Amino acid sequence: MKKKVVVTHDLHPAGIDLLKTRYDVTVLPLKNNEGIKPDCALLKDCDALIPVLSDAIDDALLTKAPQLKIIANYAVGYNNVNIAAVRKHRVMVSNTPDVLTDATVEIAFVLMLCLTRKILPADRFTREGHFNGWDTLSFMGDELTGKNIGILGMGRIGQAMAARCKAFGMHVLYHNRKHVASEIEASLGARYCSLDELLAESDVLSIHSPLTPETKHLLNQETFQKMKTGSYLVNTGRGPVVDEAALVQALQSGKLKGAGLDVYEFEPSVQRELIPMENVVLLPHIGSATVEARSKMSLMAANNVIEALEGKKPTNLIPELADLF
Ligand code: DGY
Repeated sequence: MKKKVVVTHDLHPAGIDLLKTRYDVTVLPLKNNEGIKPDCALLKDCDALIPVLSDAIDDALLTKAPQLKIIANYAVGYNNVNIAAVRKHRVMVSNTPDVLTDATVEIAFVLMLCLTRKILPADRFTREGHFNGWDTLSFMGDELTGKNIGILGMGRIGQAMAARCKAFGMHVLYHNRKHVASEIEASLGARYCSLDELLAESDVLSIHSPLTPETKHLLNQETFQKMKTGSYLVNTGRGPVVDEAALVQALQSGKLKGAGLDVYEFEPSVQRELIPMENVVLLPHIGSATVEARSKMSLMAANNVIEALEGKKPTNLIPELADLF
């Protein structure tokens, strides 16, 4: 009998088509922020599950899926997975690192440019027919050249952002749990800072850290006060790293000059006060939304499933489970 794979949402077909050549594949599909529930009948004899970040993988769900070998998360982040629960049930978990790095960084960069050069208000102004000729004073923004980019979280995506910022003539500062290798620091011209130094010196602070209990609300009322007055915040990582109510206050008080967000604390809802702000750019979590990234994520998730169902260790097994498999 063919092994059973359940895919919770409609994904790029590359990986699904591959899985269909070997297994009995069911794509539910759930919509948007819906998550798979423990009472889903398909869990009972499911061998592999491909969830997305809105699917909470916890003890209740795993208890209903006794045959499950692998959860191949369709995302690089896996804060939707309860690590203690997967350890208890001895289920492998993989993610999709690297393949969405460029796509995500392009969105971080575009948010930074849109903010500093007032792109959205200028576009609206033009469309609305207000452009009556070159003007000496309107839409003056801030140049990136010579400014400090502060990278919070210097993993793959943080490093890729740093490389692009360096190419734009920015000075790269970063804060991370640990220093990156000195060759990487040298090639990026990056300087390690304490969190307080990073906040005080960055003209643009870009968040690239995963969501963990340590990073939840790392940006809060107190830390916003430590940021350089008139700086910008960009978040393409995870929404709850930022206390959004405190962000609203920081924007209202002028402490921050602008914010570009692709992710939200209470996704998919967006703090109502942010909506009318001209100095805020809001995107619907599209960091990895390129054909290239999504097709590779789909294939990567499928390959991890195949490896696990063939009794191998999946290539992208998450590090928290390295001692178990
Ligand atoms: C991820 O991969 O973690 C993104 O948030 C969705 O692509």
